[in-house]
Amino acid sequence: MHSASDPYSPGAGRTSYELAGRNALMNDFDLLISRVAAGRTDRGIVLHGLHGVGKTVLLNEFRRRAENTGFLVVSLEGRDAEGGPKAIRAKLARGLLQAGRKANSRGNTAALAAALGTIASFAAGLQVSGIDVGVGARNGRGDSGAFAVDLEETVEDTAVALAERKSALIFVVDELQSLDAGLISALLAVQHQAGQRDWPFYLIAAGLPNLPQVLNQSQRYAEGLFTYRSVGALDREDSAAALAIPAQEQGVTYDPAAMDLLLNAAGGYPYFLQEYGSAAWESAPHKRITADDAKIAVEIGRAQLDQGFFPMRWRRATKAEREFLRLMAIDGAGGSSTATLAARAGKKMTSMTMTRGSLIRKGIIYAPELGQVSFTVPGMADYVRRVSG
Ligand SMILES: Nc1ncnc2c1ncn2[C@@H]1O[C@H](COP(=O)(O)OP(=O)(O)O)[C@@H](O)[C@H]1O
Ligand SMILES: [Mg+2]
Repeated sequence: MHSASDPYSPGAGRTSYELAGRNALMNDFDLLISRVAAGRTDRGIVLHGLHGVGKTVLLNEFRRRAENTGFLVVSLEGRDAEGGPKAIRAKLARGLLQAGRKANSRGNTAALAAALGTIASFAAGLQVSGIDVGVGARNGRGDSGAFAVDLEETVEDTAVALAERKSALIFVVDELQSLDAGLISALLAVQHQAGQRDWPFYLIAAGLPNLPQVLNQSQRYAEGLFTYRSVGALDREDSAAALAIPAQEQGVTYDPAAMDLLLNAAGGYPYFLQEYGSAAWESAPHKRITADDAKIAVEIGRAQLDQGFFPMRWRRATKAEREFLRLMAIDGAGGSSTATLAARAGKKMTSMTMTRGSLIRKGIIYAPELGQVSFTVPGMADYVRRVSG
């Protein structure tokens, strides 16, 4: 079929035509919205899972729904942390200024005017200028110079003003584990205060499978602040829907044998489903995708992944890091113990700590528990074996 009509969308954060198998997660968020709109409180939401399972796409959908309801949304992502702690705090301040302006355009109140003043103070303290909220900085709020205190006052004033109109302030944070420890801890502290004092403020975040542990290590009370949802591979039925529904829309069908081949290759991972679906679309000459088409598509799809999804990470690894990844790949997808890796390398464990740390910072591996490391991407162990083979 023509690639111009390809309904699949392999790529980080690319919205898929069909968001298969995520109704329960969507309901969680809709419930939060309806509770807040009814003046009640709820918890924030934390999505955790490997790369490629569809967390960013879900967060984007949450953001869209929140904005449609008239909530104020401020977004951050882990990549913003690459500019350093100062830059990401400035981005947060800019997001608040923009949100404040938006709220103001929907009608002013005394509480909102006060909140805008606090936001202006907060932003000024972070040297952010250029976004005028139409109100001068407010003395004594958001301007102590202690970031965590100022953030809390800013969120308090904003959320309290929004509560009057049954709205809420939402921070959407992707790859939360990549933010610096100070910012994570400040965000958790604000969410904690919000819960205690009924401010409509919610942190909606996504990150790696160990994000719940990272948050608990930051603040012991983190466990009670959020609804934690693991996002993983889709089951067979939902995977089939992810392939079939976008095709159906254009009168294209899969032979059952073709469907089987593609589902086996994708292993339920949304990113892989998009990649193989797209390859099938390219490979099939007619509107019925056959097993022969699917066989070619599996080859093409795998080659695509080997040129994009996997090397995107492999290429960022140094020589020493690649050696570390090779040693990990021996253990397959289940993860490795750092003690075993050290023994395998014939080195002291401490001498591998730096490599481990830099691979974690690059987002290529993570620590599912103490003394363990795993790949952040499904299928990475096989890929590393293929390229080192
Ligand atoms: N529920 C889903 N059904 C089908 N495809 C999906 C689904 N969720 C995500 N995708 C696709 O998977 C890929 C990865 O999604 P993304 O949100 O970037 O994952 P993550 O943030 O977990 O790494 C994208 O190509 C996206 O279109
Ligand atoms: Mg993502």
